Amino acid sequence: MNACIRAVVRIGCKQGFQVFGIVGGYQGILDEAYVSLDARSVANIIHRGGTILTTGRSEEFKTKAGLEEAAENLEKKGINALIAVGGDGTMKGLYELGKRWKDGLLIGVPGTIDNDVFGTDHSIGFDTAVNNALVAIDKIRDTAEAFSRVFLIEVMGRHSGAIAAHVGIASGAAAIIIPETPTDLDEIAQIIIDERRKGKMSSIIIVAEGDEAGDATAIASKLTDKVDEGCRVSVLGYIQRGGNPTHCDRILATRLGAHAIDCILEGKTGIMVGESGRDLVEIPFEDTWKKKKHLEKWMLERITDLSS
Ligand code: F6P
Repeated sequence: MNACIRAVVRIGCKQGFQVFGIVGGYQGILDEAYVSLDARSVANIIHRGGTILTTGRSEEFKTKAGLEEAAENLEKKGINALIAVGGDGTMKGLYELGKRWKDGLLIGVPGTIDNDVFGTDHSIGFDTAVNNALVAIDKIRDTAEAFSRVFLIEVMGRHSGAIAAHVGIASGAAAIIIPETPTDLDEIAQIIIDERRKGKMSSIIIVAEGDEAGDATAIASKLTDKVDEGCRVSVLGYIQRGGNPTHCDRILATRLGAHAIDCILEGKTGIMVGESGRDLVEIPFEDTWKKKKHLEKWMLERITDLSS
C-alpha cells in the first residue's frame, strides 16, 4: 500500500494537486484525521509493508449517519477526489459514499492479500503474502521430511482459496483444501496413503482458512483417524500480511496508484482501477463484489496430478 500512496502523492503533486492522506481508513474521514502529503513525505516508504497512513475496519462509516457525515466532512475540507485502497468492503464503502458525496470523484485501488476482487488479475499484497507463506512452508518442509510427517499448513484468505492455491502449487504440496471446491477428506487421506506406498514419507497439505470442512486443526484431527498417523498443524497467520513487499507488488501498486491519478485528471469516478493481462482496466464499483472472481482452473485440475 505504501508504494501506491507514494505514486499517488508524487504523480498527484506533479499534476498540481494538493494531496492529503486520511489516517486510519474510512474512520479517518469521520475523525477529520488528514495529513498533508508532498513528494518528500513519501520518501523511503516503497519498501515498507503495511501503510504509513494506518487503517482500520470502521463500523460507524457503514451506517447511514456515518456516510452522510463523511460526505459532509470531505465537502467541508474542500476535497475533490478520494482514492481508497482495499478489498470489496472498501469498494462498497466508496459506492455508498458516492451516493451522498455528489461532487467528489471516487476511485478504488484493489488491495487485499485475498486476491478475491473481481476485475483485476491481482490485488496489492497478494504476491507478498504468497511469497511470505512460501518462505515459511519451505522451512516447515525440512521438519516434515526429517521426521516423516504429515503437515497441514493453514493460510489466510477469508472466503477465498487464492493464496492456498498459489502457495500449494508453488510449494509442491500434495493437496490443497479450499472453499471453492468441495472437500472430501477420504480423498485427501488416500493421497497421503498413496504417497506413503510410493515411498514419500512426508506430505504437505495446504488448508485455506475459510474451507467448509473447518480449520487446519479440525481437519488434522479428522485426517489423523483416517491415515492412522498424527498430522501436525501450522497456522501461518499474520506473518503472511507483513514485511517488505515483493517487486511485483511494488510495481502493481505504483502502476495502479499512478493510473488512479490519470482517472481523476480525466474526471472519471465510480471505478476501481485494475490490471488484466498487461493492460490497465477500469471496473464499475458494483461489479467488483457482484461478479465472482474465479481461481485459475488449471491449478485446481493439476494439483492432484502433481503429487507423487
Ligand atoms: O482480508 C484480508 C485478511 O487478511 C483475510 O485473509 C483474513 O481473514 C482477514 O483479513 C483478517 O482480518 P482481521 O485481522 O481484521 O481479523
